[in-house]
Amino acid sequence: MSEVILSVKDLQVRFPLTRSMFTKRKYLYAVDGVSFELNRGETLAIVGESGSGKTTTALAIARLIKAYAGQVQLGDIDLLSLHGSELRDVRNRMQFIFQDPYSSLNPRLRAEHIVREPLDSQGRLSAQDKEQRVDELFKAVGLRPEQKRLFPHQFSGGQRQRIGIARALATQPDLIICDEPVSALDVAVQAQILNLLRKLQSEFSLTYLFISHDLGVVQHMCDYVAVMYKGKIVEYADRLSLFNNPQHSYTKELLAAVPTITL
Ligand SMILES: Nc1ncnc2c1ncn2[C@@H]1O[C@H](COP(=O)(O)OP(=O)(O)O)[C@@H](O)[C@H]1O
Ligand SMILES: [Mg+2]
Repeated sequence: MSEVILSVKDLQVRFPLTRSMFTKRKYLYAVDGVSFELNRGETLAIVGESGSGKTTTALAIARLIKAYAGQVQLGDIDLLSLHGSELRDVRNRMQFIFQDPYSSLNPRLRAEHIVREPLDSQGRLSAQDKEQRVDELFKAVGLRPEQKRLFPHQFSGGQRQRIGIARALATQPDLIICDEPVSALDVAVQAQILNLLRKLQSEFSLTYLFISHDLGVVQHMCDYVAVMYKGKIVEYADRLSLFNNPQHSYTKELLAAVPTITL
């Protein structure tokens, strides 16, 4: 039986556009009634052009920005109703992998410290257990143990993204949100990182919410695809159906922008 890890119902996020006293305040409906479910061990891709509301959806799910309305369940936890320490506890169950491995890692910390940090804030493991866990994570993402002592600037872009991935895995989260994780990387390196994410998924049965503006990137990465356009999901389908038989004209446009589709 498949287990629903993430359930999102009618999620809405609005940003105020005008602040005049005399006109009615207008809003940008950045996320406008988004609903989907994601099962453990599966990947849902959210695809859409820049500005369609993908990142805002992810940030609202993770409670990093405020949702205007809707419901988000992580397992059986009602995320949007949590406060204070409850919210802090649940934060470790969701981790992000960000687009830019150059700016998302603290340049002053050694790689081992960056990867260990989520474990430090969780405060569950002894120093020795944490060190062992960091070693395992380095190995899992294809970094060498002696690289632990280096600082982010001493790594290539792809290696930095490996550090970001190791960090995201540290607390064994139920959900990993990848927001354009390869968009800042060279094409050859993109393939390596995508392969790594797939390998890790099968090894640790990870659940990914995988955000990209590029259908080509997700074609080997996802079980389901939600196509987002102006804050709404305009098409939702399993991977093969979406690539073989796109329904919405906007999906067809996105497909046409992918140079080669190989299934
Ligand atoms: N903090 C914010 N304040 C105001 N508008 C925002 C904010 N964040 C995003 N937006 C707007 O919301 C829309 C969706 O943005 P975003 O979720 O970043 O899109 P995507 O990730 O799909 O490129 C865009 O029009 C963007 O300009
Ligand atoms: Mg974005």
